[in-house]
Amino acid sequence: MMLFFHVLMLSLLSGGSAKVVKDFKSECDDFFANKKSPTGFSGKQYEKICQNLNNVVYYATLYDTVSKIPVYSAYKFEGLKNCTRLNKWYIEPQLDDINQSPNMKFEKHVKIQGLGNRQALNRDYMKSDHDKGHLEPVFQANSQGCANATFTLTNAAPQNPSFNRGQWRELEEKMAKNLSDMCKKYSVYIVTGVVPGTKNIKNRVIVPSHFWTAYCCLDNNNKCQIKGGFIGANKNITPENKLVEILETDLARLYNVTSFKLFDSSTESPIPQLHPQKRSKESKSKTEKKKKKYFENN
Ligand SMILES: *[C@@H]1O[C@H](CO)[C@@H](O)[C@H](O)[C@H]1NC(C)=O
Ligand SMILES: *[C@@H]1O[C@H](CO)[C@@H](O)[C@H](O)[C@H]1NC(C)=O
Ligand SMILES: *[C@@H]1O[C@H](CO)[C@@H](O)[C@H](O)[C@H]1NC(C)=O
Ligand SMILES: *[C@@H]1O[C@H](CO)[C@@H](O)[C@H](O)[C@H]1NC(C)=O
Repeated sequence: MMLFFHVLMLSLLSGGSAKVVKDFKSECDDFFANKKSPTGFSGKQYEKICQNLNNVVYYATLYDTVSKIPVYSAYKFEGLKNCTRLNKWYIEPQLDDINQSPNMKFEKHVKIQGLGNRQALNRDYMKSDHDKGHLEPVFQANSQGCANATFTLTNAAPQNPSFNRGQWRELEEKMAKNLSDMCKKYSVYIVTGVVPGTKNIKNRVIVPSHFWTAYCCLDNNNKCQIKGGFIGANKNITPENKLVEILETDLARLYNVTSFKLFDSSTESPIPQLHPQKRSKESKSKTEKKKKKYFENN
């Protein structure tokens, strides 16, 4: 009996420190509005990562081990912090060997067979004509530790360099400034992701067709009082501002999944909207126009 409890405790403990986790719940669901992660993805190719650096969890990532890019990173925004950039990149040892350290590590410190089988490595990006485009950006990190932790390849995807340094960067910065003004009294939850495209680098890592981001400013009653999103093709044009519901529809189509929900329905305000008939008509024709526009841009 004692032995049984020992084994049980050990497995619970090691489960508790793992960075690649079975479920975000209990490990790192704090990074999602109402502790509910986006839905729509399942299968062995997707791994859930609680992004651990020096035994602190800073955010959560859903990672696609076949495309070797994330689906999304989810995090809390707590105002502008002016963090400095690390500019060295970690990898996730547990993706290639679950018995490895639960912390992100520099690639040179990870000595395992099959390294890179299920994740991108630094050399994939070398001379690839693509930047390592952050999903959770340094600019929206809530501490220096967090800013350091954004420099892991599981939080990055190949991005058009002029987009990364141009329109997308501007969006990250404007969004952070807007949220610091608009959502002071709320808890701000952000999910940022990419859609896999048809090109790849080094025959290993898929280049995203789109980058997207969405925010929810959650009040004390766990409702999103302010929310919105943006999506842009992976080239240097201004990302489009979208209602969250429209972004969800667009993303479901782009990902070829039946539905994609960025924020749980429990975050929706029960207050009925004014003129729901009129609004839905309007937003429908707007949706069509917007969809048309960005499929044309592809
Ligand atoms: C960040 O830097 C900007 C410009 O350098 C400055 O105006 C701002 O007050 C700084 N913010 C914080 C939180 O330190
Ligand atoms: C961030 O990384 C820098 C460079 O390695 C290091 O000097 C600093 O201590 C780190 N900060 C935190 C809070 O981890
Ligand atoms: C920031 O706020 C301005 C003014 O409300 C708005 O026009 C703009 O679209 C917002 N941009 C972002 C990136 O949130
Ligand atoms: C979705 O399906 C379309 C058409 O079958 C395909 O071209 C596209 O690559 C798919 N996208 C993803 C992300 O699987």
